[in-house]
Parts: sequence; structure tokens; C-alpha cells
Amino acid sequence: MMKKLVITFVMLLTSVVIRAGEVPLLGNVLNRPTTTLNGDWNYIVDVQECGYYDYRHNKLRWGFFQNAKPKQPEDLIEYDFDKSDKMQIPSDWNTRDQRLFFYEGTVWFKRSFNYQPKPGHRTLLYFGAVNYEAIVFVNGVEVGKHVGGFTPFNFDVTEQIHEGENFVIVKVDNKRDKDNVPTLIFDWWNYGGITRDVMLVDVPQTYIENYSLQLDRNNLKQLNFSLQLNEKVAGREVSILIPELKVKRTLITDADGRIAAMLKAKPQLWSPENPKLYKVELTLDGETLADEIGFRTIETRGKQLLLNGKPIFLKGISIHEEKPNGGGRANSREDAQTLLSWAKELGCNFVRLAHYPHNEFMVREAERMGILVWSEIPVYWTISWTNEQTFANASRQLNDMIRRDQNRANVIIWSIANETPHSAERDAFLGRLARQAHEMDGTRLVSMAMEVLSAPNYHNRLQDNMNQYVDVISFNQYIGWYRDVKDASKMTWEIPYEKPVIISEFGGGAKYGLHGQKNQRWTEEFQENLYIENTAMLDKIEGLAGTTPWILKDFRSPRRVLNGIQDYYNRKGLYSDKGEKKKAFYVLKAWYEGK
Ligand code: GCU
Repeated sequence: MMKKLVITFVMLLTSVVIRAGEVPLLGNVLNRPTTTLNGDWNYIVDVQECGYYDYRHNKLRWGFFQNAKPKQPEDLIEYDFDKSDKMQIPSDWNTRDQRLFFYEGTVWFKRSFNYQPKPGHRTLLYFGAVNYEAIVFVNGVEVGKHVGGFTPFNFDVTEQIHEGENFVIVKVDNKRDKDNVPTLIFDWWNYGGITRDVMLVDVPQTYIENYSLQLDRNNLKQLNFSLQLNEKVAGREVSILIPELKVKRTLITDADGRIAAMLKAKPQLWSPENPKLYKVELTLDGETLADEIGFRTIETRGKQLLLNGKPIFLKGISIHEEKPNGGGRANSREDAQTLLSWAKELGCNFVRLAHYPHNEFMVREAERMGILVWSEIPVYWTISWTNEQTFANASRQLNDMIRRDQNRANVIIWSIANETPHSAERDAFLGRLARQAHEMDGTRLVSMAMEVLSAPNYHNRLQDNMNQYVDVISFNQYIGWYRDVKDASKMTWEIPYEKPVIISEFGGGAKYGLHGQKNQRWTEEFQENLYIENTAMLDKIEGLAGTTPWILKDFRSPRRVLNGIQDYYNRKGLYSDKGEKKKAFYVLKAWYEGK
């Protein structure tokens, strides 16, 4: 048993690229001593990036990141953050400033703040997420750069920050590019900005970087605990306390500042019916980091999916991370509670957080509410499979998604991709990601959303080389909408893999309040009928272990331009964007009641 744990740990350290100033992701930041930098930030829209490059497109030394002010009357400074507009952060600029609704490019953000660094301590600057590229400056000094719009990152700014007045400036750029992850095209709004919480985190010189505490899959009386300090120091004492389980141990770090241990305990198992969480306290040098952790096992046996050793049917729904009422990116505990309570009303015990890691509130609120989670990285449609930088980017996002949520009992599936075209290059790219996910976390399942695009003679046969890498076979099918509109009842299915099956997407669009014949597109009756026919068809699929229909609520997409119907919304929601239930809602709810 000990050998397996050590292996998992090592793999983490070698796989991701950490740039200068940036430090490995801090685990459980929500329970650490922090100073929020949320609130009003000044911003400057810089279409031609003249705050970063000169007219020869060389990097500027005296760019906007200096936050300069004229000292002499004749001084020429052609920007002034303090005279610029303000935007509430976290948010996206598209819904905060009408001029920027469609904007893709650079926007500069500045926040001044007063700070008293604790003597002998370090200060980290933490971002929940910034879409897409962030270049970060503290008091005019560049502390680092991050790409990827949906995972957290942090910089050690101890050397740059000082007593009293400080300022942080972020150059945010959400321009799309074919080599990015996601790539050039995707069916959701490219919300730009500092989209999640920003905070300063106060940590001691030597601090607990991250840790993992999981129930052993083969021994329900054993917890596997591993921990990493920020420094490679041996002999440091870390105590772990789980009062309700009478666990109280003091453990010593090895030469790499790591701990790996097995703890005897017999916890109540976390489940949707009983989302039991235990208080856990980790103490190093008198500083205690608290958390709430649940324990459960998730595994497959042939085509069965077993939660805590019992077969489970995943009554799911797909969700985009978007506030209702056209409010842009969801980013708060309240947003999470709203969206998840809508899923609960549908009768769900599972959500697919599409197509990128959602904010931590979403995952933690789901855990409290007893909702299982599928979490995914935006390897979506046709990525640059042979570009090594693109791979490093995807691998990094996978790493950070797992490292942020590895202690969440409700997260059961890591998804590495959605609707990707078959090719040897794609298989190689995704195969490496699947291996990485399994090596980093041997306690959860790996999947991806495959596709079944056609049914000669009404026979749907799934064939995908990636079947060998994933634990659960998931695929999207749009019978009734993109194909075979009238033929659901004639369909037969063949999924030639001895693994559980999840239908990760099915569905169709309807404009809330539009009524008519059931063969009339965009009416609620059309969508209702599609759900009636699809759920009856799905009942015939052998090994069906769950579904996550597309989608909880209508969401914004630049690909949906049908005036009077779509108006830049994908209308496949079971709820309108205002939370109004469409007729199909009741079809799915009834079907789940029967499961
Ligand atoms: C695809 C895709 C979704 C998209 C949906 C649709 O399957 O995965 O991101 O929104 O279809 O067409 O509505």
C-alpha cells in the first residue's frame, strides 16, 4: 500500500510547468488567512495593447503596469487608472460594460490597497481564475503570467509587496487562438476578465502547500493521507485531527517536505442521501488549516457504476458557469446555490460542469447539497493535437483542476475532453491526459464526452479508440435535434465496451413561452416531445448508468444568432435564462423519479 501512495505524489511535481514568481497551487485557499482584493478595480480598454508594446511592437519598459503619474507639468503620461472607469471584480467585462459585450482583446485592471505584511511570513497573490491570459504586476514589477481561463493560480509576492499603499495591475487578454485550450471556436460566451475571487494569502515561511485525504478504495477502515510542504524540509511535525473520528496523529515530513500515511478510521460514507462531511484540522508550527471532508468510494464493475459499493444511476444535468438573467459568469456561493437548487428541483443527484472547471463554490456547494460532480477541462472540439505547448497547457489545466478539488467527496469523474475528432494525434494527446489523471488520482474515474453522429439503418454503434483509457464510456447524441428527428423509437444501440455508459449530452432547443405543434421547431412542445422520445429510447441502452442532458438553462453563445428565437442564446435549457421551467423540464423530472 505505501508504495502506491508515494508514486502518486511524485508524478504531480514533474508534470506541470510553473513560471517564475508563480508557486505551486495552494490547496484549500478558502480556509486560509486571506485579505480579499474583490471590489472596485479601475480598468482601461486597450484594443491595440499600447500599454504593453511600443509602435514597433516591442515590449515597453514604461507601460501601463507602472501606474505612472506626471511628476513635472511637462510630463507626458497618456493614461491614468484613477481617472478611469471602475468595474466590480470578480466579474466579466462583457456584462459589466455594454461597450464590451462582444469585446475580445486586452483590458488592464488596477487595484490599490493598503497592506501590513506579517513579519517573517510570506504573501501569496491568488486568483480563482482570469480569462484567458493574465500578466500580473505588483507595484510595477511583473510577478508572472498565466494562461487558461478556468483554473486558479498564485504568485509569491513577498518581495514586491510592502507596508502601506500597494497596487496590483493585471493585463487580461481573452483573444481566442487555435493553439489555445479551448481553441478558436466553442459554443459558449467568451466572457473576459478577472472572473473569480482575488485575494492575498498570508502564509508562514514554511507552509502546507497542499494535501490529500481519501478513503481507501479497498479498505473502508483506512484513510490515505498525503501532504506537501512548500519547502523540501525533513523532520517538520504536522498534526492531523479529525475529532469525530477520534483521529489525532502527529506526522513527520521526509527530505522532500512530504508526508504519506494511513490513518485508521471508520467514517460514515458521503452519499447524495447523506452528504456527511467531517471537520479536519492540520497544524504546522501552531498554525491550523481547517477543512471539511467527506469519504466515499466510487468504482466500476463491468457496466455497473458503484458508489460506496452500491450500484447508482446518475440523474444528471449539464450546466454552464453562468448567472441567470443574463448576468454573465457565475462566481459566488449564491450563484452556485441558485443553479444547483434548480438541478435539485429536476430531481438530480449529479451535475456535469461543462466544459471547463467551474468555480470552487460550485463544487463545494454541490458537496454540501449531496450532488455528485463531473468536472472537465476545455479540450473541446478540434484542438491543436500536435502542438506541445497546447498539450502542456491542457496538462496544466488538468493538474490544477485535480489539485484544487482532490478532497471533494462529490467529485467522482475527471473529464479530459468533449466531442474531439478521431485521429492518431488526438488519441495520443488524450491518452497522455488520461494517464496523467489516473496517476495523479487513483481514487476517481476518468471519462470524456465521445460522439455518436449517425445511425445507418437506425443502428447506433459507438466506436472510439479512447475506450481503453477511460473508466466510463460517455457520449453525446442529438437524436431528435441535429439528426433523425422522427426516429428515436426505431433506434438500436451498440456500445461494445464492458464499462458503464453515461449519455453526457442529448436535448433540443425551445424558446420559453413559444407554443405550437410538437413538430414545430423551437416550441416547448417540440422539446417536450424530444425528451419523451429520447428518455424512452435511453431506457433501452444496456449498461446505462446515467445521463446529463444538455442543458439546465439557456446560456449565451456567439454561435446562436437566430433573431427572435436565439438572440445569442443557446435555447436548449430546460429552464429559460430567467429560471422559467419549459415543458420538457417535467418530462425529465418524471423520468428521474422513476429511476
Ligand atoms: C455540443 C457541445 C455543446 C453545445 C451543444 C449544442 O454537443 O458539446 O457545447 O452547446 O452541442 O449544440 O447545443
